This record gives sequence, C-alpha cells and structure tokens, in this order.
Amino acid sequence: MSGKLLKIGFIGGGKMAQAMAKGFISAGLSKGESMIASCHPSDLASHAAFKDLGAESIFENVPVVQKSDVVIISVKPQVVPTALGDIKKAQGVNANKLFLSIAMGITIKQLEQFLPGESRVVRVMPNTPALVRSGASVFVCGQKATEDDASITKKLLESIGTCEQVTENLLDPITALSGSGPAYIYIMIEALADGGVKMGLPRDLAYRLASQTVLGAGQMVRDTKIHPGVLKDDVTSPAGSTAAGLHFLEQKGFRSALIGAIETATKRCREVSQADATK
Ligand SMILES: NC(=O)c1ccc[n+]([C@@H]2O[C@H](COP(=O)([O-])OP(=O)(O)OC[C@H]3O[C@@H](n4cnc5c(N)ncnc54)[C@H](OP(=O)(O)O)[C@@H]3O)[C@@H](O)[C@H]2O)c1
Repeated sequence: MSGKLLKIGFIGGGKMAQAMAKGFISAGLSKGESMIASCHPSDLASHAAFKDLGAESIFENVPVVQKSDVVIISVKPQVVPTALGDIKKAQGVNANKLFLSIAMGITIKQLEQFLPGESRVVRVMPNTPALVRSGASVFVCGQKATEDDASITKKLLESIGTCEQVTENLLDPITALSGSGPAYIYIMIEALADGGVKMGLPRDLAYRLASQTVLGAGQMVRDTKIHPGVLKDDVTSPAGSTAAGLHFLEQKGFRSALIGAIETATKRCREVSQADATK
C-alpha cells in the first residue's frame, strides 16, 4: 500500500461510511477524489456529504465495485442481501477485491454466499467515534482473505482509532460493547450534566466537564493499565462525597444495568444474524 492511494468504495453512504471516509482522508490514506459511494436515491443528504468530500457519489452499487480496490459494505444489515445481490447478478464485474463489511450481525459465511466466489471478505465492527479518529474497531478475516488484506484492513482501521483482530464468535458481544457503547456513554454524559445543572452548574460547563471526565477516566484505564477498581478506590476517600455517590449508584443497580445492557444487546445481535440467515 506504500506510496499508492487506495481507491475505496462504499456500498451505502450513511453515517458510518461518512465517518470512515473522513478518517481515511485525515490520516492521508485516501483522498476524496479516490473514493466512490453508492447512496440510496432517497438519501440525498449522504449523496451531498460524499460530494462535499470530493468523492464520486452515485445511485448504483456495481460501479462502486468496478472502480475500487477496497469495497466497504456499509448498508443496514437487512439491505445487505439486496445490495450484494446486485453485484453477484452483474455480468463481467471483477469481484476479486477486498470487501470489508461493517453490517451488524452478518456473518463471514453469509457474506461469502452473497458475493461472487472470488471475493475476499473481512468482517469489521467499528464504532462512530471513528469520526473523530477515536474509534474502537475489530476485524475477522474470511477464508479467502490474504495476509495483505489483513494488513490493509488494520492500516485503514488504525487510521480511525484502535483496531484488533479477533475470532468471529466474539463479534456479537463486541458489537454490544463497543459498537453500541457510545450510545450508553452519551446518555451517561447527558445524565451527569443534568445532575450538575440540577445542582446549579451552567449547562455548557456541565457538558464540558462530563465529557472530559469520561474521556480522562477512559484514558486512565487504557494508558495506566491499572485495574478500574483500584482507580475507583483511589478517588474514594473515607466518608467522602465519592463514597456517598457510589453507594447511591450501587443502590440503583448501575453496574447491573450496564451488564444487562451488554447481555441484551448481544442477544439482539444474535437474533438479527439468525433472522438474516433464514432469509
Ligand atoms: N451507527 C453505528 O454506531 C454503527 C456501528 C458499527 C457498525 N454499524 C453498521 O454500519 C452499517 C451502516 O450503519 P449506519 O449507522 O451508517 O446506517 P445509515 O446511516 O442508515 O447508512 C446506511 C446507508 O445505506 C443506504 N442504503 C439503503 N439501501 C441501499 C442500497 N440498496 N444500496 C446502497 N445504499 C443503500 C441508506 O440510505 P437510506 O437511509 O435512504 O435507506 C443509508 O444511507 C450498518 O450495517 C450497521 O450495522 C453501525
């Protein structure tokens, strides 16, 4: 990949596709002009967003495959069979390309069935902080994906945050944790700020402090590698205010609610996979 800009195509130009495209451009791995996205004809906002990046934006899927080195499948899971069906049915398309799918719950086996036999598949689970190049992504290689494909995938995903290669059996709980996780953190930030406002803080100050606190605590866990329980003990002085706050959270089932959220979201991912498998 050295020196040469990758031609990257997106099947589905929605939120995640835009986040990834912007990340690849900021990291210098691609340019707007080297990208192409297919958007649904009803989704003029995504069409305009890709045009604004300098990319080609069209309403058909097959030319995206023809014009790209790497094709990112970024439609909603229920649309994957139709969108990939367009490619399988098309005559004379060279589909010996690297396909990265970010669709929740669609397995490598399903992707390999939907695509022409020569396609090389990698399944990815990114998250939306990719937009600010702080994503947490994982990927799984399909049978035909080469070592080169794995290293291109890693390079692309590392340009928008962190990236780890995993086995496919972990993908549903990973989707529940890091794919859906930003939504849980956003309501936590909103609630922390609401608490601050209730106790007299100006709203904008409360949002700044809450978001920086979440960011800082995350960095402490990631960078120091100290167990989160030890870090929690470090801020909890005897008979202090943090101890009082923690006691309230435990009484309200805070931990248990988060554990339950991951369990419920994982089960939902499995339901989606099974529903798609039976189509
Ligand atoms: N959002 C997340 O946090 C997140 C995290 C990890 C993975 N994912 C996965 O990423 C994928 C995309 O999610 P998203 O949040 O970016 O969804 P999104 O914003 O709805 O993007 C999907 C895009 O595909 C378009 N589309 C629909 N049918 C199409 C077709 N036949 N051909 C081409 N494009 C078509 C949609 O247009 P219309 O809106 O007009 O239908 C929309 O622009 C999903 O599979 C999701 O599971 C999302």
